[in-house]
Amino acid sequence: MELGKYIVIEGHDGTGKSTQVDIVRQRLLDNYGIESEKLEEPGGTPIGDEIRTILKNGELERDPKTNLLLFTSARCELWKHMSAVLKIGRWVVVARNFYSSLAYQGYGEGLDLGLIEETTKTFTDEQYMNPNIPLILSLDDEVERAKRIKLRGELEKPDAFESKGDEFQSRVRNGYLEIAKSRNVPIISANQSIEKMADEIWTHIEHAIK
Ligand code: TYD
Repeated sequence: MELGKYIVIEGHDGTGKSTQVDIVRQRLLDNYGIESEKLEEPGGTPIGDEIRTILKNGELERDPKTNLLLFTSARCELWKHMSAVLKIGRWVVVARNFYSSLAYQGYGEGLDLGLIEETTKTFTDEQYMNPNIPLILSLDDEVERAKRIKLRGELEKPDAFESKGDEFQSRVRNGYLEIAKSRNVPIISANQSIEKMADEIWTHIEHAIK
C-alpha cells in the first residue's frame, strides 16, 4: 500500500497555522477525496498532551535542554502514532514539527542546532526528519504578531514561549527564515488574507502531489 503523505505547516505563534491546517484538509478531501488526520506538536497523544501542559506553563522554570527533551518525548510518542497512520495510506496534516525546536530552542534559546537535529533523529527516523510537504508561515510584522497573540490571549493565557520578550521573538522569526533557506522550505507570507495564504499553500501542495 502506498504511504500517506506527511504535510507540515510551520511558523511562529500567531501566523495562523491551525486555520491553514483545516483548510488544507478540506481541500484535499474536496478536490482529491483524500482523508487526512489533523495533528499538532506538541500533543496528539495522551502523554504528549500532558507534556504539552507542562511545557506551556510559563511558571515552571527550566533549562532549554529540558525543553528539548520534553518536546522530543512528546514528538517520539506522536511519531509512533503518525507513522502508523501513514503506513495505512492515510495522510497527516500537522501544525509544527522539529523545525519548531530549531527555531525556539535553537535560534531562540541558544541551543546547538546540531544537538537538536541529532536528538530528534535519535528518537524519530528519516521519514519524520523529511516531511513530504513542509511549509513555513511567516509574519514579518512583530506588532501584528503581538496583536494576534494578545487577541487569542483573551481566551487563553500567553504560554511560556509567547510571553518571552521581543528579542526572543525576533530570534525565532529570523530562525524560521534561516531554516527555510537552508532546507529549501517554501515560505508563505502571513501578512495577507487567510484566503490568499490558503491559495498559495494549495499551489505548493498541488505541485508536490501531481
Ligand atoms: P501552541 O499552543 O501549540 O502554539 P501555536 O498554537 O502557536 O502552535 O504552543 C506550543 C508552544 O511551544 C509555542 O509557543 C511554540 C513552542 N514550541 C517550541 O518551543 N518547541 C517545539 O519544538 C514546539 C513543537 C513548540
